[in-house]
Amino acid sequence: MNYFNKHIIITGAAGFIGSSLVEFLLKNGGYKITCIDNFDDYYDISAKQKNIAAFENHANIRFLKIDIRNADELNKNLCDDYDIIVHLAAKAGVRQSILQPNLYEQTNVAGTLNLLEFAKQKNVKQFVFASSSSIYGVNPDVPWRETSALMPVSPYAATKIAGEYLGYTYSKLYDIRFIALRFFTVYGAKQRPDLAIHKFTELITKNNPITLYGNGDTFRDYTYIDDILSGIAAAINYDKTMFETINLGNNHTVGLLDLVATLENVIGKKAIAQFDKLHPADSPRTFADITKAKKLLNYNPQTQLNDGIRKFYEWYVNN
Ligand SMILES: NC(=O)c1ccc[n+]([C@@H]2O[C@H](COP(=O)([O-])OP(=O)(O)OC[C@H]3O[C@@H](n4cnc5c(N)ncnc54)[C@H](O)[C@@H]3O)[C@@H](O)[C@H]2O)c1
Repeated sequence: MNYFNKHIIITGAAGFIGSSLVEFLLKNGGYKITCIDNFDDYYDISAKQKNIAAFENHANIRFLKIDIRNADELNKNLCDDYDIIVHLAAKAGVRQSILQPNLYEQTNVAGTLNLLEFAKQKNVKQFVFASSSSIYGVNPDVPWRETSALMPVSPYAATKIAGEYLGYTYSKLYDIRFIALRFFTVYGAKQRPDLAIHKFTELITKNNPITLYGNGDTFRDYTYIDDILSGIAAAINYDKTMFETINLGNNHTVGLLDLVATLENVIGKKAIAQFDKLHPADSPRTFADITKAKKLLNYNPQTQLNDGIRKFYEWYVNN
């Protein structure tokens, strides 16, 4: 007889973090997982097909190609009892959200609302939500704590704040435990190709120029995927309070020029750098205070940038 501790719905399961989470949970056992993704074309869908190849036919996995904007489709296809929803599906990317704000709102706000309604109707009592460091935006007072002022500068960031507030409302009204995890620039194997580490690696390897926005004077709190996964797993099992917002970062902010130097060192090639002004949707600096994550989730990031970049590059070369 098959025995599963928990049946989890993971949305965005073909994406970078989602597919990594599915593999991580399968390795750790005890979970039956229903995966949802619509294979959105924000980046090459062949990357997403590769992401799921290792697990799509696994006995404990059911993979559904569903769009979270369509509540009827969700209700029609999801008929089991579920313990938890880990909601990672989203239109990602701060800059693109300036060009397509309505699309971001429909996916990230209306889509999240559909899943919360689903949780209410099907009595799913725990909801883990992928929020983002971008919600702190241009707040200059770093490191950011969960109580820091939110100063978003992209429609994307604003949709993540809306998701958190919808979660708060549903938690209060319907006793759904809602944990918003505010991810800080996640990197590692399978990283989205639009994010700096992956994009720069591709360009440097092919001897093409890279553009450093903010004239190279921006800072990011890069967080390795395995650390993020341990934080998500802890949130899945968290059972104390009913609503929390929690930073998942590395508590170490790195200048863009230092990032490029690290990439050059690992790749073994010099970058051809060109400079441009800060994009209006970008934060000048991200930096997480992770005191709360340590306390509530026993979160303790292990991977420093140099090691993480080496592991990413190893994956990049083999893929
Ligand atoms: N990667 C980061 O550094 C980072 C930082 C902060 C927050 N986040 C959040 O974490 C989550 C995962 O990010 P990621 O980097 O893995 O992105 P990703 O784009 O690789 O994954 C998101 C997945 O959601 C799917 N999706 C999009 N629209 C959908 C829809 N309408 N219906 C069903 N599925 C849909 C996409 O096809 C994709 O596979 C997102 O919510 C993102 O906003 C990521």
